[in-house]
Amino acid sequence: MKLLVLNGPNLNLLGLREPDIYGRQTYADLERIVREMCEAEGIEVELFQSNHEGALVDRIQSAYGAFDGIVINPAAYTHTSVAILDALKAVALPAVEVHISDVSKRESFRQVSYAGMACVKTFMGLGLDGYRQAILYLKRYLEGTL
Ligand code: DQA
Repeated sequence: MKLLVLNGPNLNLLGLREPDIYGRQTYADLERIVREMCEAEGIEVELFQSNHEGALVDRIQSAYGAFDGIVINPAAYTHTSVAILDALKAVALPAVEVHISDVSKRESFRQVSYAGMACVKTFMGLGLDGYRQAILYLKRYLEGTL
C-alpha cells in the first residue's frame, strides 16, 4: 500500500506559526511522525508540502496510478480551491482530509471545505495526531476492514 501525504500553504511553518492554534511541533516533526508510523504499519509513504495551489494540483494528478490513497491538509486552500477539489475528483483516489485545528469552531470563512467534498473522511482538531488517525483510517478503508 502506497500513500501520498499532502500539505498546503504555511504548514512548512508549523512550530513557528500561531503556536496557540497549531502547536509547537514543526513540519520536520510531522514528517518524522508520519514516516515512523507508516513504517510500523507497513505502508509506503511520500510527503509533499507546497505553498502553491498548482503544485498541489500537479502532485494530485501525478498520484494517479502511482498511489493507493491520499491524505491531504490543503490548509487555506481548503476554503478556496475548486481546482484541488476537481483534481481529487479527477484521479478518484480515496482521500482523507486532515486539519490540525478544529476549523468547525473557527471563523465563518473556514466553514466550507471544497477538498472535503472529495474525501471519504475528515479528521480535525486533533493536532498532528490527526495525520496518524487519517492514515490508519485510509489503510482500513483500502483494506476493506472498516
Ligand atoms: C488548517 C486550517 C485552515 O483553515 C488554515 O488555513 C490552515 C491550517 C489546519 O490544519 O487546521 O492553514 O488546515
